Amino acid sequence: MARPQINLYYKNVTIGELGEEHKITEIQLEDLAKKTEPLISQLNKERKEGKTPYRDLPFETEISQQVKRLVAEIKDNCENLIVLGIGGSALGNIALQTALNPYLYNIDDRQRRGPRLFVFDNVDPVQFSSFLDWIGDKLDKTVFNVISKSGRTSETAAQFLIIREMLLDRLGANGLRNQIVTTTNAREGTLHEITRDLGFRNLEVPDGVGGRFSILSAVGLFSAAMCGIDIDLLLAGARDMDTRVSNEDFCKNPAAANAAINYYYYNHGKKISVMMPYSYHLKDLADWYRQLWAESLGKAKDLKDKEVHIGPTPVKALGATDQHSQIQLYREGPNDKLFTFLQVNNFCKDIKIGPAPDCAPELDYLAGKKLSTLLNNEKKATEYALLQSKRPCLTVIFPEVNEYTVGQFIYLYEVTTSLAGALFNINPYDQPAVELGKEATFALMGKPGSGYEELASDIQSLTDIDTAYLV
Ligand code: PA5
Repeated sequence: MARPQINLYYKNVTIGELGEEHKITEIQLEDLAKKTEPLISQLNKERKEGKTPYRDLPFETEISQQVKRLVAEIKDNCENLIVLGIGGSALGNIALQTALNPYLYNIDDRQRRGPRLFVFDNVDPVQFSSFLDWIGDKLDKTVFNVISKSGRTSETAAQFLIIREMLLDRLGANGLRNQIVTTTNAREGTLHEITRDLGFRNLEVPDGVGGRFSILSAVGLFSAAMCGIDIDLLLAGARDMDTRVSNEDFCKNPAAANAAINYYYYNHGKKISVMMPYSYHLKDLADWYRQLWAESLGKAKDLKDKEVHIGPTPVKALGATDQHSQIQLYREGPNDKLFTFLQVNNFCKDIKIGPAPDCAPELDYLAGKKLSTLLNNEKKATEYALLQSKRPCLTVIFPEVNEYTVGQFIYLYEVTTSLAGALFNINPYDQPAVELGKEATFALMGKPGSGYEELASDIQSLTDIDTAYLV
C-alpha cells in the first residue's frame, strides 16, 4: 500500500504577484538547479565516505532494537519519564512528543500510551522546584533519561546532580541505579565515566552525529518509544525521504529545491526565514528546525576561512495564533522574510462547529463547517495576504501527521540544512559559538582548568552591573 508522502510546494515563490524583485523566475530556477546539482552529488559522495553519519541513522536497525529492548525492560514500572538535556539533546524529544501524541497526553490517562513525559531543557530554579515538589513521592515509578553527547554540559550536569542527590536520599544507591538511563558518548566524557562507575543503563549518541542531527538516534527514539510512538515507522519515513533527497535531479529533490530557494532569497534581502505550521502538532518541529537552521548555518567563516558572518535567521510562528500577533509586521514591515507554511490536509481528529444562536445570524457562515476547514482556510488567507504584499511563500504539505510523515519531515530538513551549508560554503556541523558560551559558564561557575580564572575576570569586567548606567 502506498504510504503518504509530504511535499514541498514552491509555486508561490515564482508568481507574478511578487513582482520581478521578489519572485524566482524560470531562468533563476535553472541557475539554482545548475548550482545545486553538483552539491547533491558531493553530499552523496560524502555520505558514502562516512562523513555525514546522521544520514545512516534511519538504517541503523541495531539502535532501534536496543531502544526497544530497554523500553520493554522498564516501561511497565515507569509512570513518569523525565528527560534532562538541552539543545539537540532535548528539542527533538519535545518535537516528537508534541507531533505524535495527544495534546493532553500527560494529563488524561485514557490518552496515554506510556509514562507521562517531561523534558527539562533549562535550569530555571522556580520551574525545577515546582517539578521536584511534585515528583518527590513518585521517584520509584520515575525514570530520568539524562542526555548529553559531550557529557559535560553545565545545565544537564546540574539537573543530574540535583536528581542524583534526591534519588540517593530517598531510594538509596540501588534506587539511583534503577531510575536513571543515560544517553551519551560510548567512549569518553564525564557522563560516560559516571555511567560506567555507577552502573547506569545506557544508550549511545553515535560518533560524529551532532546534537541537532541526533533526533533519529537513541537521543530522540528512547523517549518516543517509551511514550508509545512507533519508531520503526518514523525511521521508515526518514528512509523514504532519503531516496528522494539523494536524487541528483534538482526538480525531483525536495531538499535541493528547499535549500536553493532559501539560499536565493537570503542573497536577495530575505535574511529571515519564518516557519509557520498550521497545526498544533507541528509547532515544536518548528522549534527543532529553529535550532537546526540557526546552529548549522549561522557561521563567522566560510570553508576557506574567510570572514563571512552568514546565516538566515529562523523564526517560528504558529497559525492561526500568530495571525493575531505577527502578521501586521510580516505584511507591512520590512520585506526581509521567506515564509514556509506547514499544512496538514487530513487532521487525525475533527470537530463540526455548532449552530449559531438566533440573535447572532452573522455567525451562520461558521455553523456546520469543520474546524480543520477554518484552520486551512486561515492558512490560505494568510498566504494570499502575504503574496499581495509581495512576500514569497513555500508550503510543506503533510497529507496527515503521523510517524511516517514526521520522519520524512525531519530527514528532509536535515538534508536541506546540509545542502544549504554547501550552498553557503560553510561547515553546517560545528558550533564554535555555542562552545564558547559553555566555556564561559564553566569559568563563571568556578570550574578549575587552565585559563578559566582569566576568562571569568574578562567576562565580569564586561557584564558586571555598573550602577552609573542604571536609570
Ligand atoms: O546541536 C548541538 O550540538 C548542541 O545544541 C548540543 O546539543 C547542546 O549544546 C547540548 O550538548 P550536549 O548534548 O553535549 O550536552
